[in-house]
Order: sequence, then structure tokens, then C-alpha cells
Amino acid sequence: MSLQTITADERCTVQAISPARRLDSIQELVRHGLSQPPKTLPPILFYDERGSELFEQICQLPEYYLTRTEQQILDCYAADMAQVCDPELVLVELGSGSSTKTRTLLDALFVRGQRPIYRPIDISQAMLQATAEELTVEYPDLQVHAIASDYEHGLEEVGKQKGHQKAFLFLGSNLGNFTRSAAVALLGDIRQAMHPGDLLFLGLDLVKPLPLLLAAYDDRDGVTAAFNKNVLARINRELDADFNLERFRHQVVWNAAEQAIEMHLRSLGDQQVRVRDLELAVTFRDGETIHTESSHKYTQEILETLSGDAGLEIERMWLDENGWFALNLLAPKNNGAMEQ
Ligand code: AVI
Repeated sequence: MSLQTITADERCTVQAISPARRLDSIQELVRHGLSQPPKTLPPILFYDERGSELFEQICQLPEYYLTRTEQQILDCYAADMAQVCDPELVLVELGSGSSTKTRTLLDALFVRGQRPIYRPIDISQAMLQATAEELTVEYPDLQVHAIASDYEHGLEEVGKQKGHQKAFLFLGSNLGNFTRSAAVALLGDIRQAMHPGDLLFLGLDLVKPLPLLLAAYDDRDGVTAAFNKNVLARINRELDADFNLERFRHQVVWNAAEQAIEMHLRSLGDQQVRVRDLELAVTFRDGETIHTESSHKYTQEILETLSGDAGLEIERMWLDENGWFALNLLAPKNNGAMEQ
């Protein structure tokens, strides 16, 4: 693992942590995912430059209620969230992106005279650098010490830090893109990085009537379809493949057993695709799909079970007026009483 700090000024640093070996190169992910039935491609492959732009557009869609509903909850309850935080705290955000919703919580903290140090963790170093610089201009009393890393190594790094209370922020129902067992593992990593008195604010999309869920992932304008198909366009661009995007259809299904919306790309007809850089020929039967994403939905019971397995307990849930989305406050079980 290598560490590198790119300092803009003392109030704003970006530390890059790169694992010794990148296990998850696009080559390995594509070869692995397309070589065995059922075919899969992991959602991390959505987010090249074009995919990130399309995701920003999805967040503005009328059907995609998640972003605006979570923002409404923050608008209503950020003051309550700030109230459970110490006067001096380290605010650690996983998958911070452009930190748009974070600003609502930062505003609430500063209004109350609290003094947060902001530690965003994100895989995109360019995004972190730009956002960190913007934030230090917008908030003259804010220190931003960003970590460009995957969640696991970023959490390890912040876990070393003792002293001020840490409030972890994990928004956007990003946990939903993890399988239930991977979600427990990630919550466990967060728990590991916590000390008694630390908090986790976790934004999760809730189980709701199916038409609402299906529409959110299959919008009228076809933006989500374009987002899904962009993964094939990306493989064409980066690995010299010849996917014909016209011959795959965006498909959304509800997996009742998993309580998850799944996105697939369904082959329209029998076909063969070449991925030249991998010297790979992939055969598709008519109707065969590539599973590209699962968005797990939550109930209080599911969250109780998963967080309990990770050594955390729910202290509060803030909901929107329709009960579509929950911003949850979690803390170490028994507030870490067993810790030495
Ligand atoms: C990032 N993630 C929480 C989104 C979701 O809702 O699962 C990604 C997404 N996929 C299709 N639309 C949005």
C-alpha cells in the first residue's frame, strides 16, 4: 500500500492510498464476469466519465426519488443530526463525490458553532481535489483532509485517528449496491474504525410499492437505460470490444427473495461479441442477460439484523413524509462498552 499526500494548503489536503496490487482492473473484472454463467459485470464499471455524467442526470429525474427525498430529510433534520454531534468532530464521508448533500449538514454544524474537520473518502482523486478546494473557499473555518482510496483502506486510515468524535456519513443508499453479506462486512469495517461515542449516519432506500421502484430504474426518457448500456460502450472503448448496443435491451426486475431491484442487459438474439484486448469471444443466447447491478432495499428489520451482525445498533431513523427513504443514526452496540 502506498501513501502520497498532495497538499494544496494546510487547510486542505488530499492523501492518496493505493493498494499494493490492484485486484480489480477492468480487464480482470470483464474477463471474470463474462466468462461464467450467469454473466455479470460489477456496478463499479458504470462510473467512467460518461457514466458519472449519466448518473448525475439520473439523480435529477422525476422518477428517481432517492436523491431529492434524502435531500428533503437532510433539509428537515440536519439540525437534529448536528445536535447529536460533539462541538469538535471529524466528519468522515464514504463515497463523497461532489459533497452536495454534505453541505446541508456542514451548514447545520456551523450554525450551531460546531467545528468539524471533514475527511471525505472517494475513489476519484480528481473529484476530491476539486471538491476539497471548493469547500475550503465556501467554508473559511473548515479543514478538509481527503483520502483518495477504496472504502476499506480509507476506513483503516481514519480508524487510526483517536481524539475527537468521528461521525461517519454514508448517503445515497450506496450500501444498497452491496450484497447483504458484503453490506455486513462494510458496516463491520466502519464499526472497526469507530471508538465509543462515534456515530454513523446511513442513508437507505426503503422497500415500497413495486411500480415506484421499477419506474425509478426504468425512466421514461431512457437515461437509466443509457447508463446501463454505457458499460458495454465503455468495454468497446477501453478493451476494443464490438458490443452492438442496439442488440441489448435494458431490463429491470424485482428480486423478491433479495428485496432488490436488479438491472440487466438482455441479448436480443443469439450473438457473439469479441473483446480483442482480452482475446475473448463471448457467446450470448437469445434472451440471456448480463446482470449489471442490484439495488437492495431496506426495512427497519433488515437494517436491524445487518447492523446487529456488524456490532452496531440503530439509535434513530429520520424518514420523509411518504416513508420512502430513511436516514439512520447508528452507534456501536452498547456504545462500545466492551472496548478496552
Ligand atoms: C449509486 N446507487 C445507489 C444507485 C442506485 O440507486 O442503486 C445507482 C443507480 N443505478 C441505477 N440508477 C441509479
